[in-house]
Amino acid sequence: MNNIIDKFTDATLTQMRESHTYRTMRHIESPEAAHVMLRDANGISSEQFLLASNSYLDLADVPELKQAMADAVLKWGTGSGGARLTTGNKTPHVELEAEIARFKGEEAAITFNTGYMANVGTISALCGKGDYIFSDELNHASIIDGIRLSRAKCFVYKHNNMADLERVILEAKADAREQAAKIDADFRGMIVTDAVFSMDGDLANLPELLKIAKAHEVLLMIDEAHATGVLGKTGRGLAEHYGCEHADVTVGTLSKAVAAEGGFVAGKQKLIDFLRNKSRSFIFTTAMAPAVAAAALNNLKFIEAHPERVQQLRGNVDFFCESLRREGLNVATSPSAIIPIVIGDEAKAMQISATLQEHGILIPAIRYPTVAKGSARLRASLMATHTHEELRLAAKNIAEAIKF
Ligand SMILES: Cc1ncc(COP(=O)(O)O)c(C=O)c1O
Repeated sequence: MNNIIDKFTDATLTQMRESHTYRTMRHIESPEAAHVMLRDANGISSEQFLLASNSYLDLADVPELKQAMADAVLKWGTGSGGARLTTGNKTPHVELEAEIARFKGEEAAITFNTGYMANVGTISALCGKGDYIFSDELNHASIIDGIRLSRAKCFVYKHNNMADLERVILEAKADAREQAAKIDADFRGMIVTDAVFSMDGDLANLPELLKIAKAHEVLLMIDEAHATGVLGKTGRGLAEHYGCEHADVTVGTLSKAVAAEGGFVAGKQKLIDFLRNKSRSFIFTTAMAPAVAAAALNNLKFIEAHPERVQQLRGNVDFFCESLRREGLNVATSPSAIIPIVIGDEAKAMQISATLQEHGILIPAIRYPTVAKGSARLRASLMATHTHEELRLAAKNIAEAIKF
């Protein structure tokens, strides 16, 4: 007799293998840093120059930050032992939230165990049946899942297209009127967008979004997963980058530039009080280990004390994009730390990535379904500690692998 699990898995796994979308994982044997040890499928290890990390400021392997986390483990133990609303809420959680609020220039903040949980829990708490959500077509999966969970009506607008956003807001208002479920005054809508789009590295147009949100009296939520620690002179994010007001709801993660783990929402005290009471992914889960909260807190303070690290990252992005252009590649200067090098063909992108790995450069190929068919790309992401020499050499190797 066939195993019952076959019935649920076989067709999908076969289809994924046939369409080359079946996923496996890389095995890295060293801490996340600019150079890592990669163990291949044959068990052979090689040193790789890492051009693929979200640890943009390269803080995961800094001795003083590791020591601070180790001290926190000794002080607070290995786990929190309870949900935040029962016994899990320990001093590091409280201090971390105060620090995030301060860093982000907001009244208050709340942390979640991951950025994914922050998005899912925030969107589904704020919006429900009868509400309207306006979502950029390139938003992250965790935003999409939060929208699905909310059961609000979702209108997807063309990527970063403000005219299309206004069009769908008007369409939603007409829909609300037509359904007579709500009169205009009761209409509740929320715009939600990535601050930095994770596969393209481009930015949401916060000043325009603020104008549109105000004009149409809808809420504005941004996800600063790839913006925190990266954008603005001191890494405070999209509002600092543009020198404009903040969105109503700012979500972020502590797992990328902050190099710990967890997600957060920062905003008005009332928003945070609301989420503490209504967000299911905050309420019904065990609090993150206090030592993880302490690590995020220490790392965030480190970022505040070392704005030069943020500027070093910015300088590296400018230098690397320029180096790629010098090698003849058509690459614009990215405003973030993510640099897409579009190849087009899926198989070619995979081949180039494999060739680069043979040369000790780890840069993944991103293909359908993560990006549109025929727009497969190498997705480079930079760290503050990459040297110009390393970046120049990587650009040369990338161009050669593409031209080959
Ligand atoms: C734009 C965006 N939002 C949210 C997340 C989720 O954050 P986390 O990894 O902390 O769950 C990610 C990536 O992981 C992301 O790229």
